[in-house]
Amino acid sequence: MQRVEKEIERLINEIDYDEVSKLFSMLSGGKRLRAKLILKIASEHNDAPLLAAIVELIHAASLLHDDVIDDAMTRRGVASVNATDGSKTAVMLGDILYSKGFTELVAFDKEVARTIAASVTALSKGEMMDVKMAESFNSDEALYLDMLYLKTATLIEAAAKASALLVGKDASKHALYGKNLGLSFQIIDDILDITATEEALGKPAMNDFVEGKCTLPYIYLYEELNDADKKRLIKAHGQKIDAEESAWIQTKMQEFKTVEKSFQLAQKLSNEAQTVMSDDAELVNILKSMIQRSY
Ligand code: FPP
Ligand code: MG
Repeated sequence: MQRVEKEIERLINEIDYDEVSKLFSMLSGGKRLRAKLILKIASEHNDAPLLAAIVELIHAASLLHDDVIDDAMTRRGVASVNATDGSKTAVMLGDILYSKGFTELVAFDKEVARTIAASVTALSKGEMMDVKMAESFNSDEALYLDMLYLKTATLIEAAAKASALLVGKDASKHALYGKNLGLSFQIIDDILDITATEEALGKPAMNDFVEGKCTLPYIYLYEELNDADKKRLIKAHGQKIDAEESAWIQTKMQEFKTVEKSFQLAQKLSNEAQTVMSDDAELVNILKSMIQRSY
């Protein structure tokens, strides 16, 4: 991973603007899940650290823009760029990072470059769907999973596929692995928003629902409730909820085991990916630790 950090630093230095270097150094790097995946899959390839650095720049850009869109004041426990330096700066920093990523991408094989580039269109589409869907209560599971796939899983899918292409491994097998890893990762994230404490999350618990996001445990809950309770749930959607309402939602979720049901889907997707990747213990382990993850 040190080689990836070095490549990221080199690319940032090439941008040749102190303001960018300063702002970038203040971002928290996060788990670098996508970079780790690329290094694992294409470890023997000289350009793997560069590809990993490009994908991390694109990912960082998407989060900068996402925090502006979501009006988020924190990111990974630290103040977001839009909070400290304003939305204009956050958007422009995002533009610089992802365009730098694309500039470097053109040096790669066409199929590798296309895989990453196309995923950025997909994740932008996913973000747009997410915003649209938050305007009203969504109870459509398939639509939710489509959005989740586009918004979070496509870049992970593309990272796995592109790195497989780089070293001549089975691209579709790795793509499926990346897709399911991304989907189950996001479902676990959605679950933690409900089950983890504010302290552990670095943001208020049940924040997704307050922001209008009907994640799987809410969708499954809606399916189980009677008409009066359905109305009550819809009423609570998309606004600050008081302690009584959030306790009611939590109780109902426990009654209908909607968190467990969501976890089962994450597990099913993870198992599918473990099966296709059964000959690669390291990739299987990434999945296992992700499923067991707690903050
Ligand atoms: C986080 O979602 C957001 C994403 C994973 C993708 C955001 C994508 C864009 C803004 C498209 C623009 C892309 C580029 C490259 C500029 P979330 O809000 O559900 O998760 P969070 O809790 O981490 O904020
Ligand atoms: Mg967000």
